[in-house]
Amino acid sequence: MSNHSLNNVDPLSFIDSELSRLKHCSLYRYLKGSKAEKNGKINFNGKLLLNFCSNNYLGISEELDLTKIQLSSSNLGGSGSSRLIAGSSSSFANLEKSMADLKGTESCLIFSSGYMANVGVISGLVGRGDAIFSDRLNHASIIDGIQLSGAKHFRYRHNEISHLNSLLEKNKSFKSKLIISEGLFSMDGDIAPLQELADLRKKHGAMLMIDEAHSGGIYGNHGAGLINELKLTESIDIQMGTFSKAYGSYGAYVASNKNMNDYLINKARSFIYTTALPPHIIELNIKAMEIVKSDQYRRDQLKKNAGFFREELLKLDLNIGKSSSHIVPLILNDEKYTIETCEKLWECGIAAMPIRPPTVPKGTSRIRFSLLATHKRRDLKFCIRKIKEALKT
Ligand SMILES: Cc1ncc(COP(=O)(O)O)c(C=O)c1O
Repeated sequence: MSNHSLNNVDPLSFIDSELSRLKHCSLYRYLKGSKAEKNGKINFNGKLLLNFCSNNYLGISEELDLTKIQLSSSNLGGSGSSRLIAGSSSSFANLEKSMADLKGTESCLIFSSGYMANVGVISGLVGRGDAIFSDRLNHASIIDGIQLSGAKHFRYRHNEISHLNSLLEKNKSFKSKLIISEGLFSMDGDIAPLQELADLRKKHGAMLMIDEAHSGGIYGNHGAGLINELKLTESIDIQMGTFSKAYGSYGAYVASNKNMNDYLINKARSFIYTTALPPHIIELNIKAMEIVKSDQYRRDQLKKNAGFFREELLKLDLNIGKSSSHIVPLILNDEKYTIETCEKLWECGIAAMPIRPPTVPKGTSRIRFSLLATHKRRDLKFCIRKIKEALKT
């Protein structure tokens, strides 16, 4: 038999079969053309809907017009180099100082995205022979960082401090230990027990990293985040956050002490081996920070909108898990039912996203509603009414 006939199997055939499987299981994902509009609306393929699927929680994205903002640097060329070679324009230093000041840390390091920050920090800090203790519901970027690190991965039950404590007790012999949790969970809208995590860090001599992707800009003094709100700055080694959610822009930050910052510059491969963000983005982030710091009104509006929305869903006896924030999951469990309900809402002008495995555990599919500061009360009432109707039919 010739080599040719032996290899006559289409090497790409797995793609068709995997796509068919995803469709069959209601797990298929596809892109929809969209454009965010003002006042909590979004345009999907020409249709204007109420926007419940954006992480632009404070409505700042709409304000970030590069032609109208005052620049902190005249150097607005493109990129073309990594930070360590020739990509560290003065805008970076301005932004890093501003974020470190807000967070109350010695230093801050800008990464190109939250995904890259998590992957780079985790794999730079720990490796073979070390251990990571990670909340079971942590974001994919954290999980990928853990896998890349080669450290032993212990998953503790979501927000269960006693489980984390017992894992730490049983695994004392590891060289270095890192505890990692989201501050506000992206798919559940509940808050991690940060004080207790800080206590375990001390008790077990571990490092503690908190991902404030969804809480940065929203909690704390001038939006400094949950860690700031709970006065835990000194007890947390790494505060990670992103400019892509409440800040309405792009890129991420890691706030820490100076030594940690220097270490990450030398060890975080997703920082070292990539091109620096272009200065335009950094200027947008500087502007976004100004708005976040000065505009308490947006935070207050978001809190009111979220509180109203949660209460109304609870009155209808619906399952929103333990959400206490602007991220409100309507947990429907079944994948197909979640998709169908979402489609009905879509038909009525409500854009909210179905969240299915592997983003959430199997059997806990949900529609994730993200509340915005820019939502109007009448729009929230309309949405609640439509949810009620969609669930009845
Ligand atoms: C908890 C969490 N961490 C990190 C990220 C990644 O951030 P970015 O979108 O800036 O890459 C996200 C975003 O989806 C997130 O939800």
